[in-house]
Amino acid sequence: MEKELSEHTRNILGLQLPTDPRWVNLAEIQLEEILTDHAYCEQKAAITCISLIQKNPEKKLLVDELSPIVTEEWGHFRLVLAELNKRGLNLGRQRKDVYVNKLIEFQKKGGSPAERFLDQMLIMALIEARSCERFKRLSEGMEDTYMRKFYRKFMESEAGHYTLFITLAEHYIEKKVVRQRWKEWLEYEKVLMNSSEVRGDRIH
Ligand SMILES: [Fe+2]
Ligand SMILES: [Fe+2]
Repeated sequence: MEKELSEHTRNILGLQLPTDPRWVNLAEIQLEEILTDHAYCEQKAAITCISLIQKNPEKKLLVDELSPIVTEEWGHFRLVLAELNKRGLNLGRQRKDVYVNKLIEFQKKGGSPAERFLDQMLIMALIEARSCERFKRLSEGMEDTYMRKFYRKFMESEAGHYTLFITLAEHYIEKKVVRQRWKEWLEYEKVLMNSSEVRGDRIH
């Protein structure tokens, strides 16, 4: 299974386990569900960026870099909403985000402010990386040409966001420390993905 992820993607994202290929087919037949879940992922990304700005006003680079991301993520939400509307589908209710909740469990609760900050950057980087990989899967595997293009745009955007969160982490924390903790996150995420149910109604 490891081979299925192109070397390019693996190098960029560092993810240790590619998405189960069955997931795309499951997602494709539950478009209303997957678009609803996606819509909330974009909302949560915007909200989290606002919250990071509120908690770190002294970090100028972070404030300057995340401000436009808030707009971009909200723009993504609107794109997904427009797609639902166009198809006569409904935005459903927000569901429990098992993947993100499990990642939060791995975040350092005690520790120094620097350690907590690092984990906040890396959890965002990881969510962006996995979202990017999932959008890549959809953009390559869906039957519908229009939807393949639709997801391709998200894939490119989220790859940029992944890079940004790593860059921000390395701007404020020693690179060696960032790399070491990133490895731990990747390992944790691999185990998490491996033990997660393949669900076509969820982005993660
Ligand atoms: Fe997004
Ligand atoms: Fe993003």
